[in-house]
Amino acid sequence: METESTNNNKIWNVGLLLVATLLAAKLISALIIPRSKKRLPPVVNSLPVLGGLLRFLKGPVVMLREEYPKLGSVFTLKLLNKNITFLIGPEVSAHFFKAPESDLSQQEVYQFNVPTFGPGVVFDVDYSVRQEQFRFFTEALRVNKLKGYVDQMVTEAEEYFSKWGNSGEVDLKCELEHLIILTASRCLLGEEVRNKLFDDVSALFHDLDNGMLPISVIFPYLPIPAHRRRDQSRKKLAQIFTNIIASRKQTGKTENDMLQCFIDSKYKDGRQTTESEVTGLLIAALFAGQHTSSITSTWTGAYLLCNPTYMSAVLKEQKNLTQKHGNKVDHDILSEMEVLHRCIKEALRLHPPLIMLLRSSHSDFSVKTHEGIEYDIPKGHIVATSPAFANRLPQIYKNPDKYDPDRFAPGRDEDKVAGAFSYISFGGGRHGCLGEPFAYLQIKAIWSHLVRKFELELISPFPEIDWNAMVVGVKGKVMVRYKRRELSPN
Ligand code: HEM
Repeated sequence: METESTNNNKIWNVGLLLVATLLAAKLISALIIPRSKKRLPPVVNSLPVLGGLLRFLKGPVVMLREEYPKLGSVFTLKLLNKNITFLIGPEVSAHFFKAPESDLSQQEVYQFNVPTFGPGVVFDVDYSVRQEQFRFFTEALRVNKLKGYVDQMVTEAEEYFSKWGNSGEVDLKCELEHLIILTASRCLLGEEVRNKLFDDVSALFHDLDNGMLPISVIFPYLPIPAHRRRDQSRKKLAQIFTNIIASRKQTGKTENDMLQCFIDSKYKDGRQTTESEVTGLLIAALFAGQHTSSITSTWTGAYLLCNPTYMSAVLKEQKNLTQKHGNKVDHDILSEMEVLHRCIKEALRLHPPLIMLLRSSHSDFSVKTHEGIEYDIPKGHIVATSPAFANRLPQIYKNPDKYDPDRFAPGRDEDKVAGAFSYISFGGGRHGCLGEPFAYLQIKAIWSHLVRKFELELISPFPEIDWNAMVVGVKGKVMVRYKRRELSPN
């Protein structure tokens, strides 16, 4: 018969064994696994607490330029209570672009857009609904729709530049911003806004724009005047679009514009989009496409006007096209403008307006660098990549800081040779830009018109980059002297 003390001994022994096993497991995980398996990325050296924030505020690209040579293509910046892990270059950023939403999501990091786009759309809804809303974008930007938009883009450019005199001086940046908002109004928001409500709607969009400040990224609902104006303007815009939608539905009138596509869009369960959703999706489209396109058209112009070789190549292409098609410009003719396409693509390589792309990581993952080093990125990190930095990697692009559109010409194809995700101005993979063809067509419609009709000369210094803007663009004015050509170049 076992005594009470033998029983106690047994319990002690089992307890001790348990504790010893737990300790051993802990030791193994703490000592062995980190050394052999968990290889965390190196951490940016910065002062405690606010150091990381200060490095980031100095400019993320400045920080990347300093740290990449020291730490390589994967490293972590400690920013207040967050870890931001940078993945730079195609080998390590592939996961960033391809991972499913359950692993790397946009919702948390792009939340600051919610008060601007409004409730019920994009980053305010679950991924399954967002996917359906992105399907509406895809459908609204299909080739058959783009063909109609191009005719409107061409008409807008013709009308706009017909108001220039025979010669003069203009701020090209300001002119292109204005033309692009007019074109976007027509193609995206519809003719009611373009023809009747343009001034009101532009002013409201202006307030929305000014309500998206760097501070809004961290505190989107901070009660400051800019946010209050943003919220009031959004409400007024929603009212304007509700009236337009109601009137279209009442009269049965349909148009070829994005507004109409969104009105006609249906979710998988058969539900139609609401007026509020249509308004939100249109605001999102304008935010995605307007500054990005106008900035790119300004850089394209600045580079062409400073590079006579490429300007001559563009002119020669236009001359060939006018010989072939006369003065007509449509979707298919714009698609033939390969030289101009490369000139735009190269301006965008050097100056992507979205300099930083972000995701939130929900599961651990590993990446392998070009040099074969493997890193484990823990769940909970914010993961980032930077088009502005990665587009200038010397192992991908020869003389990366030089404007050289022919690097994309057949035979060189520098972005393709280096593999997928070497050129990321439009992002790529799962969330690649849905408006890329629209943007190229719009910029080509403008620049083909300008070079055909005008001789142009840049009279201010080559523009600098405005790193402080949310969508990084051109600093100051871009003054251009123009003279109307007597004859088109044919
Ligand atoms: C030069 C002009 C443009 C540039 C440089 C640009 C750049 C980008 C980039 C980098 C992304 C990916 C963001 C990320 O991965 O986090 C993106 C996504 C997107 N863009 Fe653009 N964009 C341009 C024009 C447009 C236009 C004109 C539209 C629509 C009319 C548009 C609609 C979108 C949409 C809907 C997405 C989200 C796609 C998704 O998440 O699945 N973009 N764009």
